[in-house]
Amino acid sequence: PIIYAITPTYARLVQKAELVRISQTFLHVKNFHWIVVEDSPVKTQLVSELLAQSGLRFTHLHTETPKEHKRKESDPNWLKPRGVEQRNLALQWLRENRELSEEGVVYFADDDNTYSLRLFDEIRSTKRVSVWPVGLVGGLRFERPLVEKGRVVGFYTAWKPNRPFPMDMAGFAIALQLLLANREARFDLLAERGYLESSLLQSLVSIEELEPRADNCTKVLVWHTRSEKPKMKQEELLQKQGLGSDPSIEV
Ligand code: UGA
Ligand code: MN
Repeated sequence: PIIYAITPTYARLVQKAELVRISQTFLHVKNFHWIVVEDSPVKTQLVSELLAQSGLRFTHLHTETPKEHKRKESDPNWLKPRGVEQRNLALQWLRENRELSEEGVVYFADDDNTYSLRLFDEIRSTKRVSVWPVGLVGGLRFERPLVEKGRVVGFYTAWKPNRPFPMDMAGFAIALQLLLANREARFDLLAERGYLESSLLQSLVSIEELEPRADNCTKVLVWHTRSEKPKMKQEELLQKQGLGSDPSIEV
């Protein structure tokens, strides 16, 4: 099966660094197709060129998050769900461009996480929905599905444990055929904080059907890392003196 990784992304100082980092991980993954969806009214030159030069098989899409759902600079990062319309557009693209007969697996790969290559070996055999631990998330060292006799029986998580699927986006993959057969399944832009993952998974599987990976969910192969926002104090000072850095040099 081919692995489709869906990555929402938006313009910010660390965007190129994040995309370079994960694209160079993905270069090591065989039979891989990267679907990059920009949260932007246009396809930007930065992302277009990065993809063209990446050496990866890719699809480049864009859709801007509606204003009323977009986080303002002053809002706390958790106030609104992020990357929702972008992931939904990628699902729509798959439904319009792929046949039910194709064997594939879909993974939602945010641009800031850290991915072990071993994760993709685990993902590839997904029959319906596979699950595994995610490191450095939910205020814990890791969150993970709890497995007994090869079946998921619950979740190790501290935050809102009563969610239907208390898992981070990085902790599951879905068979392409399941998504093509359930054409209405999508992420809910209005989902309450923490319920985004559940909003999609609820219409696709039950907990008993989940397929544990990574040695019965005892290995961490993906980390919910987040990059620090770079400080631009000196840049701003120099700009005021007309000595800002050369804007034609891309960062
Ligand atoms: C956590 C989860 O890991 C995300 O998968 C989930 O979308 C998010 O919470 C949520 O509740 O919406 P977190 O690290 O806080 O993630 O979110 P980000 O990494 O900032 O954003 C997730 C993805 O959406 C990233 O790929 C990011 O580039 C993209 N994004 C973020 C946009 O496309 N537009 C934005 O305005 C912000
Ligand atoms: Mn993130």
